[in-house]
Amino acid sequence: MTSAYPVEVHEYDVVVVGAGGSGLRATLGMAEQGLRTACVTKVFPTRSHTVAAQGGIAASLGNMGPDHWQWHLYDTVKGSDWLGDTDAMEYLAREAPKAVYELEHYGVPFSRTEDGRIYQRPFGGHTTEFGEGPPVQRTCAAADRTGHAILHTLYGQSLKQKAEFFIEYFAIDLLMAEDGTCNGVLAWKLDDGTLHVFAAKMVVMATGGYGRAYFSCTSAQTCTGDGGGMVARAGLPLQDMEFVQFHPTGIYGAGCLITEGARGEGGYLTNAQGERFMERYAPTYKDLASRDVVSRCMTIEIREGRGVGRNKDHIFLHLNHLPPEVLHERLPGISESARIFAGVDVTRDPIPVLPTVHYNMGGIPTNHWGEVLDPVAGDPDRVHPGLMAVGEAGCASVHGANRLGSNSLIDLVVFGRAAAIRAGQVVDRSGAVPRPTAAAIDAALARFDGLRHANGAVPTADLRLEMQKTMQADAAVFRTDKTLAEGVEKMKKVAARIDDLKVTDRSLVWNTDLMETLELTNLMPNALATIVAAEARKESRGAHAHEDWPARDDANWRKHSLARVSGNEVTLDYRPVHLDPLTPESEGGIPLARIAPKARVY
Ligand code: FUM
Repeated sequence: MTSAYPVEVHEYDVVVVGAGGSGLRATLGMAEQGLRTACVTKVFPTRSHTVAAQGGIAASLGNMGPDHWQWHLYDTVKGSDWLGDTDAMEYLAREAPKAVYELEHYGVPFSRTEDGRIYQRPFGGHTTEFGEGPPVQRTCAAADRTGHAILHTLYGQSLKQKAEFFIEYFAIDLLMAEDGTCNGVLAWKLDDGTLHVFAAKMVVMATGGYGRAYFSCTSAQTCTGDGGGMVARAGLPLQDMEFVQFHPTGIYGAGCLITEGARGEGGYLTNAQGERFMERYAPTYKDLASRDVVSRCMTIEIREGRGVGRNKDHIFLHLNHLPPEVLHERLPGISESARIFAGVDVTRDPIPVLPTVHYNMGGIPTNHWGEVLDPVAGDPDRVHPGLMAVGEAGCASVHGANRLGSNSLIDLVVFGRAAAIRAGQVVDRSGAVPRPTAAAIDAALARFDGLRHANGAVPTADLRLEMQKTMQADAAVFRTDKTLAEGVEKMKKVAARIDDLKVTDRSLVWNTDLMETLELTNLMPNALATIVAAEARKESRGAHAHEDWPARDDANWRKHSLARVSGNEVTLDYRPVHLDPLTPESEGGIPLARIAPKARVY
């Protein structure tokens, strides 16, 4: 097989797959430490999905009023519905200010206060005084184009540090040694059809989420869970996949994001009666309750007949009361999106919105250094050698069952940076780069070749649509035993048909038919793991709102799910949540009593 597809071999200390916020931050950090680093990416770096991140990046800078990393930690624990790992969440909250100031010094053009400090806005679930005080302004913003600003800055800095970029290369599979160590990745260069082995001492998956497993999402077309797919095929587990975040304000019909920053700046939601209904459900934080809560309340309003529009099937977001200069200065991007995608002038009319799939809390399990975990009985934190995962592809786990808005961008840079620090410690700079085995390369090429010549009965686009519609209907905001059981059966049938795909373009150059097919083979294990893990979890927690099991059940279910996917079969296992913070209370850490589980009300 190898002879049918000549491969070019490249050798690096580190290969980062993906050039979004986490991939670029990891690439930059690795290169700064003198590690020979390649970044392999299927899209041009500044077109990665991080470019779409709008509202901002959370860090307790305290520029707009009092704030503290422990309050950020508390909010993240509560936001996660007590499923996040406490050590990782502490790392996130403590390192966040440092990571944001680094971004500032790298050149991110943050919006500014009158006295020149980084501007911060309120976001849902971010509070003061351990949830007892008013909302805090913690989300650092570059207008409503924060991801765009970060991505461009990190790309420029990575080039300055001489990181090498392989742009429009599609990563096909991980290359594992016989002892399981990851020592590279096979990639397909889209513009000339050549194949490339990237041999490395460390491979970092920074491939983003799998929003495109659903019919309606805020995610780019490129968000196809490629890292999760590769990891699943390598026999490693995916963690907490049942937790899928619906953002309350996707534009009705189009799915494009309207930032939570819109509510942070004073926007509010109304139903068909013109009622600000969030006041009923979340009397304290109202429209700034956490996302899972707001999405559920909107869905209840619609289900109970109080939706707006001819079909009473969406909700209005009002910004028309805000001063035009605030809209112009702080929310220019979403003003434009509302005009283009909803035909709405936000200075006059409300935006029609609907909860829309936005983020995957689950992913490739890692510790807080980004090292991939392959848990076994007796060692739930066993590190898999040669492999890291960061950003939405990974699951550190800081978001648990529900992520707070603006904790994603900070996750990208804190853990991208952490992975670089760790790689700097464990990668032997002077050692030889291990050569992937011919057997591993051949197996990856055989899969590629099989899909290239797939001659079954089902076009890729048809099977993808079936998967998306099944996930949308059966792994939704609200779930029941019945919908989930039906969804699992349907998804297994959908996944089984992947062996019957039809690819019509056999060429190797810019073959989007083949690329979308490879992407579908990545989406499928992510989708299967999601619905099977959701069907198994008999409780409600965070984004997993189970109508037959409406209460959170800490005694039985405060644990991470692990899903191993093989074909259309999923095997589930569980690992314990890390309950201990990194810093003991006696050394200035958060008092454990502060973060003990309790009812989650906003
Ligand atoms: O609403 C937003 O701007 C999205 C932010 C996030 O997902 O963190």
